[in-house]
Amino acid sequence: MSVRPLKIRPAIIGNWKMNGSGKEIKLVSRFADFVNKHKIAADVMICPPATLIDRAGLAVKGSKLRIGAQNCHNEPSGAHTGDISATMLKDAGARAVIVGHSERRTGYDETDKQVRQKAQAVIDQGLQAIICLGETRQQFNKGQTLQVVGRQLRGSLPSSATPQNTLIAYEPVWAIGSGRTPKPDDIIKVHTHLRKTLLKLHPKAGAKFKILYGGSVSAANASTILALENVNGALVGGASLSFKDFTAILRSV
Ligand code: PGA
Repeated sequence: MSVRPLKIRPAIIGNWKMNGSGKEIKLVSRFADFVNKHKIAADVMICPPATLIDRAGLAVKGSKLRIGAQNCHNEPSGAHTGDISATMLKDAGARAVIVGHSERRTGYDETDKQVRQKAQAVIDQGLQAIICLGETRQQFNKGQTLQVVGRQLRGSLPSSATPQNTLIAYEPVWAIGSGRTPKPDDIIKVHTHLRKTLLKLHPKAGAKFKILYGGSVSAANASTILALENVNGALVGGASLSFKDFTAILRSV
């Protein structure tokens, strides 16, 4: 099966996690100005905490920078105290939702099935689902990476997924926030395996899905990582909270 990469427009997505308050809206505006001014050859998005989506959405109005969310419930509404639905996130101004981030898979025991249901809810709202996958340090050491991410992809991808409504993000759990990244060859191996799995599941569209890499992407390593085969962008945590670092990553596309 051919896994020769198509030319795919990359996506650079900032995941602010549980960081940021009203004063960081200024940073969102600065990113929007930067994206408008420099012709960045990528789709750019910031996923702030849910409390800032509304204000961030207003701050990027008319710009190419888009705003996303970090999680959602799979139901549109109901008795789920403390939860937020994809419907509500869309109403607040989100254009995409990250689902199945490892901090949710491990911190809240989210299963592939739950991730798939959340992704479906996101797609049903006409938003993009950003489905995260990744192995733990232990699984990496045991050589189980391809098996683990293949299983997560098959279990988490809704049957209605298309390259337009769904992005995949490979994030080794041990690389997140650690300053460590896999060797370029290891990233290529995983992304190629994910591409092959996507082609098996979607023989026609499989070649077009964006597969992002995430986990300690920085101004220093972005150009190397973004140039790797079958890497179609990055999901950026810590570095997306800094104007200097995130814009350096955008410049390296
Ligand atoms: P990091 O986080 O870039 O801070 O490692 C990435 C992520 O968890 O999405």
